[in-house]
Amino acid sequence: MADVNTDTPIVSAIGLTKVFKDFWGRPKAKAVNDIDFEIKKGEVIGLLGPNGSGKSTTVKMILGLLYPTAGQLSVLGRSPQAVESKKEIGYLPEESYLYKYLTAEETLDFFGSLFDLSKEERERRIEQLLDMVGMSHARRRRVGEFSKGMARRIGLAQAMINDPEFLILDEPTSGLDPLGCKEVKDLILMLKKRGKTVLVTSHLLSDVEDVCDRVIILFGGKIRAQGTMNELLTVSDSTCITIPTLNQPEMEKLLANLRKDVADGELSVSHPRRSLEEYFLDVISQARKESVETSGAGAGKIAEYLSAEDDKDKVLDTLIKEPEAVVKEVEEPKTPAADTNKAVDAAEFLNSLTDKGEAEQVKAAESAIAEEKKQAMAEADDKLNSLLKGQK
Ligand SMILES: Nc1ncnc2c1ncn2[C@@H]1O[C@H](COP(=O)(O)OP(=O)(O)O)[C@@H](O)[C@H]1O
Ligand SMILES: [Mg+2]
Repeated sequence: MADVNTDTPIVSAIGLTKVFKDFWGRPKAKAVNDIDFEIKKGEVIGLLGPNGSGKSTTVKMILGLLYPTAGQLSVLGRSPQAVESKKEIGYLPEESYLYKYLTAEETLDFFGSLFDLSKEERERRIEQLLDMVGMSHARRRRVGEFSKGMARRIGLAQAMINDPEFLILDEPTSGLDPLGCKEVKDLILMLKKRGKTVLVTSHLLSDVEDVCDRVIILFGGKIRAQGTMNELLTVSDSTCITIPTLNQPEMEKLLANLRKDVADGELSVSHPRRSLEEYFLDVISQARKESVETSGAGAGKIAEYLSAEDDKDKVLDTLIKEPEAVVKEVEEPKTPAADTNKAVDAAEFLNSLTDKGEAEQVKAAESAIAEEKKQAMAEADDKLNSLLKGQK
């Protein structure tokens, strides 16, 4: 991206507003209501908010697909409509608009040809991208037959075919099982490592907490909070002292001496953090109290999701509810590849849920996935590296 100065923000929005009108031209919904924000180069930024809070509308204005009703918006230092910017931007739409009679390969080839990539270059990239998103085995299947998770993966590959500097992923984890979500997160981290700028929207907080440098929380078209994870989640009016576990007499002695000298390095003091979910709930309930217009935010939906008592239960729910998708992947005839093992692991995991402690199972599955991912990430890194090198 030679022509964009490193100091120029990737996106700069001032007073950005979008009002949708009805058939008669009367204002219907203030989807985005006078918001200011910046996205800097190399940042992974999360746009969070319940359904209807204005995330997709903001994204579409950044892409130049919708005109703002008011405010200023610049993308890569230009107008959002500037044609020169298009090749620098990759976009995963909220709903995948894939032509259902094309195969996975043909789909990527089609998008590659839009960016004037040579046939050889397209073939090379398609091969690597399919591998990276774990879809090599389905390359000759029509995308119309794909499960939502599979379509999402092809959508992600499509968004990356032009090796863009700035990726906009609208709800990238929607429709993906927990394994798929983890893969998307790893992919985002890998893109960040490559210096890419990523804007990711989500109504699922745990999906972005691990990967975002900064989040913006939208509700009713307004920014309710923004900042780094530390800024938003640090509880600064209490202090936490971290020390190795002590026995009772030692502890009492320490407490008695706490205000006397403590050797350097023996004691570390830090602020405890609230969970993003807890913080988010606060922001939303505060907004509700102030009777902010919700522009269609589904109150029932958020409450249902956020009231889920235990994350692990949620993971299990998803796994149990979507056995079809998992089984489908197992049935795929494949060369021995990392994703075969993953699908088999997931199926075994499901089968074994009945005879072992669930928490134990989740833990075991998580560490198995982490180990496998480490390896897969190293491979994917190499692939992306050679993909990027080849282009320049
Ligand atoms: N094309 C449209 N016409 C009218 N209203 C719309 C349109 N697109 C979105 N909206 C409304 O704008 C609000 C924000 O929508 P959206 O940006 O899609 O939210 P999110 O992506 O956060 O779920 C919602 O109330 C939605 O109904
Ligand atoms: Mg949306």
